[in-house]
Amino acid sequence: MKIAVIGSGYVGLVSGTCFAETGNQVLCVDNNQEKITAMQAGKIPIYEPELETLFQRNRAANRLHFSSDLAEAVAFAELIFLALPTPELEDGGADLSYVLQVSKEIAALATEYKIIVNKSTVPVGTTRQVQELFDTSCAASVDVVANPEFLKEGFAVQDFMKPQRVVIGSSSEHAIAQLQKLYAPYMRTGNRYQIMDCVSAELTKYASNAFLATKISFMNEIANYCELVGANVDHVRQGMGSDDRIGNRFLFPGIGYGGSCFPKDVKALKKLGDDLEQPFTILSAVDRVNTEQKKVFTAKIEAHFKGALQGKKFALWGLSFKPGTDDVREAPAFYVIETLLKQGASFTVFDPVAIENTRKHFGNRIHYANEPNEALQNADALIVCTEWNLFRNLDIPLFKSSMREPLIFDGRNVFDLQEMEAVGISYFSIGRP
Ligand SMILES: NC(=O)c1ccc[n+]([C@@H]2O[C@H](COP(=O)([O-])OP(=O)(O)OC[C@H]3O[C@@H](n4cnc5c(N)ncnc54)[C@H](O)[C@@H]3O)[C@@H](O)[C@H]2O)c1
Repeated sequence: MKIAVIGSGYVGLVSGTCFAETGNQVLCVDNNQEKITAMQAGKIPIYEPELETLFQRNRAANRLHFSSDLAEAVAFAELIFLALPTPELEDGGADLSYVLQVSKEIAALATEYKIIVNKSTVPVGTTRQVQELFDTSCAASVDVVANPEFLKEGFAVQDFMKPQRVVIGSSSEHAIAQLQKLYAPYMRTGNRYQIMDCVSAELTKYASNAFLATKISFMNEIANYCELVGANVDHVRQGMGSDDRIGNRFLFPGIGYGGSCFPKDVKALKKLGDDLEQPFTILSAVDRVNTEQKKVFTAKIEAHFKGALQGKKFALWGLSFKPGTDDVREAPAFYVIETLLKQGASFTVFDPVAIENTRKHFGNRIHYANEPNEALQNADALIVCTEWNLFRNLDIPLFKSSMREPLIFDGRNVFDLQEMEAVGISYFSIGRP
């Protein structure tokens, strides 16, 4: 099949590359010329495990192409995917301007039948709105389909190649059949399509993300309570998770969720409820707990130093909002750094893949290490903000000889409590005594 993907970011580039991997001809479009030029030259603009191999293989096989010209994409493909940003507006709603603007441009260009498949996370009613836009302003017949994306950064290629479900929201039999044909190679172990109306498809995406965010905020509150009563959240988590109605995944407390999805999607769903005077009461709390959790963690550091942070030197490990990605959007580490910088602290930071994106934000306000132990030199404390596996085996003698003080603030419960105690490291984690 001939496919165009408009928006070549985390979702668009992974989708386009994985579609090419199953033999399709794919044209990835972006209005960021720098990104397109880099990809045309074989340079991949994001870090995502396994993506580089697939990207290079399909580029070399002439199945994966890049362009900044939307007209080229419209002429080339019958199936046009939208993987465009839907960032947060000031009132918490989702900004639809990217999706609507590109749709208008496609409507002006299309002269024959197209299927517009929207992968962006969009408010309930958007697919209908975009369908209406095409029905009233396009010379050709167009089917607009909601096909929300559920991939996780850090596992995006795996998630795309073996999806747990593919949600298709449409009433067009032809469009549904075309998408089922396209996704068939990823469904070889069994049919995992969820075919539904477009409104339900749009809501499925928001409801899924909001539920996952709720699990995280719930566990963060449980962890904070554990600290007050001397309970250990690891035991509580395992005790809870062994009930298969609860399940043991996504029950890890930390310093709050970040990234480009949960924070904005929770707020967008809340706004959708408010607009219809059907408030999502739970989501207000989920969002509030998440904002507070970053402060709870930072306050532990401030309290330890009795607020005297001027001149304190911190090593910080983990900058991306979660392991496996270079995405630093809404990364809790950034909150910690900004807050302590303002009080006169300094930072040397390390992350396996997110240094470049961090540098774009902080520039020379902080120092960057090439490997984790380099960041530790003469530090007053180590702060862990992302649970990269690389951090799990601490070289204790080296740690102790590098640091001014053997002190760790662990926002992700990376280290073993007993071990820390046995080797004499002062250790503050989340929800553990
Ligand atoms: N990142 C995720 O893990 C994830 C998962 C599921 C769903 N989503 C949703 O998918 C959508 C895209 O997210 P993302 O993380 O890939 O965003 P992103 O910011 O990584 O990528 C968006 C891309 O679109 C490009 N773009 C912007 N305007 C354009 C235009 N007019 N024409 C062509 N290209 C344009 C940008 O340059 C950028 O490269 C969002 O709605 C998001 O909520 C994201």
